[in-house]
Amino acid sequence: MSCKKWLLVCLLVSGVFLALYLTYSPMTKWFQVEKEPQRYPVAKRPSTEAPTEEPFQEEPGMYHVAYPRKYKFIIDQPEICEQQKPYLVVIVPVPPWDVDARNGIRKTWGEQKVFGDKMVLVLFLLGLHSGNDEEMLQERLRNESQQYQDLLQSNFQDSYRNLTIKTMVMMEWLSRKCQQATYAMKVDADVLLNMNNLIKMLVSLNTVQGNYMTGLVWYESPVIRDPSSKFFLPYDVYSKNTYPPYPLGMCYIISVDLPQKFLQESKQIKPIYIEDAYLGICLERLGIVPIKPPNIEQFVVKPPQYNRCYYSGLIAVLTENTNQMTSYWLDIHSSSQPC
Ligand SMILES: *[C@@H]1O[C@H](CO)[C@@H](O)[C@H](O)[C@H]1NC(C)=O
Ligand SMILES: *[C@@H]1O[C@H](CO)[C@@H](O)[C@H](O)[C@H]1NC(C)=O
Repeated sequence: MSCKKWLLVCLLVSGVFLALYLTYSPMTKWFQVEKEPQRYPVAKRPSTEAPTEEPFQEEPGMYHVAYPRKYKFIIDQPEICEQQKPYLVVIVPVPPWDVDARNGIRKTWGEQKVFGDKMVLVLFLLGLHSGNDEEMLQERLRNESQQYQDLLQSNFQDSYRNLTIKTMVMMEWLSRKCQQATYAMKVDADVLLNMNNLIKMLVSLNTVQGNYMTGLVWYESPVIRDPSSKFFLPYDVYSKNTYPPYPLGMCYIISVDLPQKFLQESKQIKPIYIEDAYLGICLERLGIVPIKPPNIEQFVVKPPQYNRCYYSGLIAVLTENTNQMTSYWLDIHSSSQPC
């Protein structure tokens, strides 16, 4: 055999190897034409302010809520934040029929609007009432709204099991209509707030960077597996044994950049009916940890016996009802001996 033949075979073999190498080597990517990256179908960006993605259209079942992002505000205060430029906007979820709770707050901790150079805005958030007296109640609500201009009513069915919807429409309202505020707070109607102490606390915080949520933060709160409990949640709905940290729903404070982030994240997480735990799940996915307030003992969910001076130092304390809340507030603010 001649040398030439061997040379030819060698060249052929090495050619084959080179071809194989070029096909499978990761280096090859460098000199291949860049493939068009996979794209999601380009949906038209929402031109209106309403979010257009509606991921959870199906029947919500027992443990989720119907949140198709289509609810509308039928009573609204669209300009109020623009006009008043509040430092803090306080939103109180309350059933439509509970005018006593609203009046109780209006004449106690909701009355004072100005604290030094800080404005506070208190608004009540309602859903729809259903029942025989529906129309009559709706007319009363319109009257009440004209008189006080502090009602927000969305057109979902108001019920205890639907509280997460209320929280989410609150987030919608805050993100669209109240970016002027620095902080937003959700507080239940049976909570006694001490606004002076609250504002003092907020002013002392340094949260310019946002992503801030505080309140009575619970860590490692167990998921309740007892079917007779009000907060029961089965494994197939949430499989972990504990919830991520979240502030108790009785009252929490957020920086106003958060509502938009909650709305965005909630597209990926089907809303469960336990509203505060749901926000905790969203926070975890956002990589945000809720922070204890400077003095967590100022937030009390199981209060001891009433004591004027003790209550005067608190920020938020749960009471049994509007009457109790009102009488405590009047006592704290009466001009008897200072504490
Ligand atoms: C609402 O206000 C109008 C005008 O003040 C009054 O005539 C009407 O009776 C009120 N409706 C209810 C249900 O209170
Ligand atoms: C929650 O609200 C939705 C929308 O209004 C309604 O269809 C559903 O019946 C409500 N659920 C409860 C438990 O009230």
